[in-house]
Amino acid sequence: MGQEYILVTGATSGIGAALAQGLVRDGVPVVACGRNRERLDMFMKLGGGGITLSYPFDLTDTAHLEGSLTAFLADHACNIRGFVHCAGVYPIAPLRMMSDADAHDVMDVNLFSAMAILRALVKKRVNHGALASVVMVSSINSYRGASGFTAYCASKGAVDAFVRAAATELAPRVRINAVRSGIIQTHGTDEQTKEAQAIFQQPEAHGYLLGNGSTDDVVSMIRYLLSERARWITGQCFTVDGGLTAH
Ligand SMILES: NC(=O)c1ccc[n+]([C@@H]2O[C@H](COP(=O)([O-])OP(=O)(O)OC[C@H]3O[C@@H](n4cnc5c(N)ncnc54)[C@H](OP(=O)(O)O)[C@@H]3O)[C@@H](O)[C@H]2O)c1
Repeated sequence: MGQEYILVTGATSGIGAALAQGLVRDGVPVVACGRNRERLDMFMKLGGGGITLSYPFDLTDTAHLEGSLTAFLADHACNIRGFVHCAGVYPIAPLRMMSDADAHDVMDVNLFSAMAILRALVKKRVNHGALASVVMVSSINSYRGASGFTAYCASKGAVDAFVRAAATELAPRVRINAVRSGIIQTHGTDEQTKEAQAIFQQPEAHGYLLGNGSTDDVVSMIRYLLSERARWITGQCFTVDGGLTAH
């Protein structure tokens, strides 16, 4: 059995980058997945002592994902003990303007890629029974509608449902949970609507009781769920949103 890693998708930006960098700083071996080679290379330099591996892959290519990841793990003699799916897309697309292909891309990146990855990781011949914990980054929009984000909301609702169903199938060996984040300023949200920028400027006026959140607020919940401290928790979706949905 090879060295054990945490696989982080979306490791090149936002919540995933903060998670991956924090793990590496704490000496935890990480496989970082993303498309942006420059940011993956920068991340590799962080690892210094060889505890990081980079796995460039376009997660819309779900048909080839399981085979590609299987080959990657064999080539690097590594096993994955924790998997965190942070990759996600949230394009603004009113329903009447959304193409079939765009809707499929959202589902592919936000859900189907994670299903393909998990399919590989639970196979004994691929990952040697190493997988113990999975965390999916969901959103408060999994249960709250947002105009212009129908595909996104649908994808996150599906993520929550997937987590519950997969938990029943994978227990007791593998735990799987979701973290539903409220809005956090990242590279992705920088490209968002004026509405998002207005929230960042006056969070309390928009219902965020605790003001603006940061990537670290989401990362700490992810790391708790990944860890053995959460050994009796599976199939759950935890909201981290500065109190927005408390009222
Ligand atoms: N930020 C928020 O306000 C917020 C709120 C609720 C939930 N979330 C969820 O949190 C997660 C992370 O969001 P974020 O704002 O931190 O991210 P972000 O800064 O927008 O970055 C998105 C990440 O996903 C990766 N990604 C996107 N499409 C990909 C593809 N086709 N193949 C491979 N990787 C792909 C990107 O990699 P490359 O750039 O390398 O392609 C990047 O690392 C997402 O699931 C999002 O839905 C975010």
